[in-house]
Amino acid sequence: MKIRIPATSANLGPGFDSCGIALSLYLFIEVLEPSDQWEIIHDLGNDIPSDATNLMITTALALAPDLAPHKIKMESDVPLARGLGSSSSVIVAGIELANRLGNLNLSQKEKIEIATKIEGHPDNVAPAICGDFVVACYFSEKKTDKVSYVKHYFPECDIIAFIPNTELLTTESREVLPQSFTYSQAVEASAIANVMIAAVINGNLPLAGKMMEEDRWHERYRQKFIPHLASIRQLGKDEGAYGCFLSGAGPTVLILSPEDKTTRLMKTLQALDKNATIERLSIDREGVQAF
Ligand code: HSE
Repeated sequence: MKIRIPATSANLGPGFDSCGIALSLYLFIEVLEPSDQWEIIHDLGNDIPSDATNLMITTALALAPDLAPHKIKMESDVPLARGLGSSSSVIVAGIELANRLGNLNLSQKEKIEIATKIEGHPDNVAPAICGDFVVACYFSEKKTDKVSYVKHYFPECDIIAFIPNTELLTTESREVLPQSFTYSQAVEASAIANVMIAAVINGNLPLAGKMMEEDRWHERYRQKFIPHLASIRQLGKDEGAYGCFLSGAGPTVLILSPEDKTTRLMKTLQALDKNATIERLSIDREGVQAF
């Protein structure tokens, strides 16, 4: 059995902890033969456990404690700690592994609720499970662990990822966020998000991109971690991009680009930082797949 999980980008600017898209970079899992103990075969570095302490296995065993151990091959082109949902992809892999090996018959909603409880917010795990563009909310305060979500088609465009050669942990990037907003600040920030979502649904990328750049919830507080954000934004405007936003907690920045502008934009972006990886991505429409 093989499982494929897409990378994701959370927030899209003002959709903080709520909106996300699935991207054409993947974590691949292949379940090999049964074994005495769990063994994960990978070359993702020494920080990723190769035994039952791997996040994929702890997630799977929390759902199905009696799962028989297997050898599992893990390959990934989702860069770690870059704001592209690498940990969410592993959590979703663990849920799907338990679902298939343990015959749990989980619904999509159940998978999202389990994954959100582990991750704390649904904006990466929901698109990793559903694919495409997902808007979700998590009622954690009521302790019900319920998630409401909507999947919708994201308009066709190129997505350029500017991936700095530095890691940024989500915990560190969340620590700089304010503890509170005034009522009027919250109303403004949520109105911007509402228009962004409506514009995406209408296929109006110029307006969606404009709203993505008007985020009030998080990007301004995180800017110090991403010194190139302002220059990327300016470059995008100069070169005709729809808009750009910090991918999740950063440090990756995504730029939505009309196809005919992409090649030139990618060249100019590379000149900003020769150590950064610049990739041309598209939307993954399917989410997690097992075959
Ligand atoms: N919404 C989250 C954040 C995504 O921006 O902190 C990263 O987990």
